[in-house]
Amino acid sequence: MGDQPTAREDYDKLRRRVLWTFPSGLYVIGSRAGARRNAMTANWVTQVSFEPKLIGVGIEKPAVTHELIAEGGAFSVTTVSREDRAIVRKFTKPVEVDAENGTLNGFPFHDGVTGVPILDHAPAYVECEVRHAVDLGNHTFFIGEVVDAGFQADEATEVLRMEDTRMNYGG
Ligand SMILES: Cc1cc2nc3c(=O)[nH]c(=O)nc-3n(C[C@H](O)[C@H](O)[C@H](O)COP(=O)(O)O)c2cc1C
Repeated sequence: MGDQPTAREDYDKLRRRVLWTFPSGLYVIGSRAGARRNAMTANWVTQVSFEPKLIGVGIEKPAVTHELIAEGGAFSVTTVSREDRAIVRKFTKPVEVDAENGTLNGFPFHDGVTGVPILDHAPAYVECEVRHAVDLGNHTFFIGEVVDAGFQADEATEVLRMEDTRMNYGG
């Protein structure tokens, strides 16, 4: 890395491209505080402990999801079927909730044991209660303990990964 501004910019771009090659999954994170519900596309999701079973999710501070997880103390993580890849683009903005018909942006959902929404289309889900919230600059890493998990489709359903799309996040 050089000291010149262009060398710095080139390095920033290179570093981003390197980070974009890191493989990751794609998920929808459900959150809720009182009557407010949201669902958001995310790829910064990973298991971080066997015992207890802990899942960490990196959430942008300005996101509605951030507010709802911080307030509600729980979140769901669902996988996305490769056949339902259109879902991912539908959840990159705060959702429109139709509580009466039980839909988020038109997709049917139900509330899990912690009250957070879970998309009915999702092949598999976990629900987590927040145990730690680590402040990391422009994101918070919420670490939750799995309190429920299940399949809603055949266990062999192929799930979407970032590499199946032309999208990137992070870098
Ligand atoms: C492919 C993809 C992956 C994303 N991954 C994350 C992520 O891991 N964490 C995050 O905070 N936002 C992520 N986002 C951005 C959120 O989906 C987006 O900022 C959303 O507007 C925030 O949601 P909310 O305001 O409805 O909560 C990703 C977006 C895309 C397109």
